[in-house]
Amino acid sequence: MNIVVLAAGMGKRMKSDLPKVLHPIAGTPLLGHVLGTARRLMKSSGQLVVIYGHGGDIVPNRLAADDIVWAKQEPQLGTGHAVMQAIPFLKDDVPTLILYGDVPLTRLETLEALIAAAGTHQLGILTVHLPDPAGYGRIVRKEGRICAIVEQKDADEATRKINEINSGILVAPTHSLKRWLAGLSNNNAQKEYYLTDIVAAAVNDAVAIVATHPKYAWETDGVNSKVQLAELERIHQRNIADELMEAGVTLADPARIDVRGSLVCGRDVFIDVNCVFEGKVELGDGVQLGPNCVLRDSSIGARTEVFGFTHIVKASIGIGGQIGPFARLRPGTELGDDNHIGNFVEIKATRMGNHSKANHLSYVGDAHVGQRVNIGAGTITCNYDGVNKHLTIIEDDVHIGSDTQLVAPVTVGKGSTTAAGTTVWKTVPADSLVLNSKDQVHRSAWKRPVKVEKS
Ligand code: UD1
Ligand code: CA
Repeated sequence: MNIVVLAAGMGKRMKSDLPKVLHPIAGTPLLGHVLGTARRLMKSSGQLVVIYGHGGDIVPNRLAADDIVWAKQEPQLGTGHAVMQAIPFLKDDVPTLILYGDVPLTRLETLEALIAAAGTHQLGILTVHLPDPAGYGRIVRKEGRICAIVEQKDADEATRKINEINSGILVAPTHSLKRWLAGLSNNNAQKEYYLTDIVAAAVNDAVAIVATHPKYAWETDGVNSKVQLAELERIHQRNIADELMEAGVTLADPARIDVRGSLVCGRDVFIDVNCVFEGKVELGDGVQLGPNCVLRDSSIGARTEVFGFTHIVKASIGIGGQIGPFARLRPGTELGDDNHIGNFVEIKATRMGNHSKANHLSYVGDAHVGQRVNIGAGTITCNYDGVNKHLTIIEDDVHIGSDTQLVAPVTVGKGSTTAAGTTVWKTVPADSLVLNSKDQVHRSAWKRPVKVEKS
């Protein structure tokens, strides 16, 4: 299978400096979705060609890959002219499938059915019956057989009443396609080389034409505006939500989840509203996610509960933990099992052993924390000297008192305790209490200042 993706159009109605096909759905460019589907369809033989143009090299630079040939179309003289740019790269012995870079949600099954129906010798077209066909090319049939596609701008009134439209997606025998393209003219209302004119050429050649239809109308919806982009985003997210629920995940509301990447869940996972998943996220069996959590490239072990408004990026969490609400786990956080990370606790580049806790208002960065450690409220690892980051080591069974500052590099030995408000900057031996000498002073009968009224 050769696959040609048309992506040279400019997308004026997006009102954006970004080429249209780079606008994202679920965090992936529109064209990225199409390429993903194309790759799943490609068999070992054939070639994947993307026609680009508007926006220049931004598109190929962004989506560069070894398996893609990029063919520049400049100027853009129509869909037929676009496919002509791919001709030198198309292998004759396999059919060629045409996809649009701005039609992101066509299902694999739909394209497989089209390709199967067309076989190796027929022209296959994906068509749709629309209540309002305005703007699209109309499928003209004689005695039930497709004989032409007529563009809106070239159609007479009777033809405009036809509600079977051309999705633009088609598959053709490659040697015939090349010949038909060579015969195209731009003798039409838009002075463009229409790909759709190959239909009449196929009729001339007595090549049979078959049409198949997508199961859902959104499969052939293109994106021309931000409104359409948002509509397809919601459809795509709903499809992902349905897949998750079918796999056994409980969603508080399937309309309020955003998956921008891959989300793999174990059994009996519960996800509350407004959670956002980016990159690759894995949730173990029985994980409970509170509302408004953001998770990116992270994994969460079985039975861990994450309470609302928690941010987790490039972190791994063990089993049976309790995280949040309002916790922030930053890249390089590796928690063990049964950890408790409470509100307003930020953790970065830190390994933490099993059964350790940091329940309130702390910053733990660049640290190795042992097992059964308790980190009291307001603890700060002072990891940064303004130039370099340094390591804090807190060994097993340490009790860090509230409001402790650990000035790295520093080690607190096994079983030790830091008194509340201690600044630790030297190694603390095992099983000791560390405190700074400071006094508590009392000034008797002290009066607070009195507010001076402004005149
Ligand atoms: C085209 C079809 C029409 C069909 C409609 C479906 C033709 C002549 N018409 O309409 O029958 O109903 O799609 O949306 O084929 N592109 C290029 N280079 C060009 C022109 C277009 O790469 O010179 C790309 C665009 O980026 C887009 C796709 O081809 O991805 C379709 O272009 P668009 O202008 O939207 O299609 P229409 O000509 O309106
Ligand atoms: Ca279009």
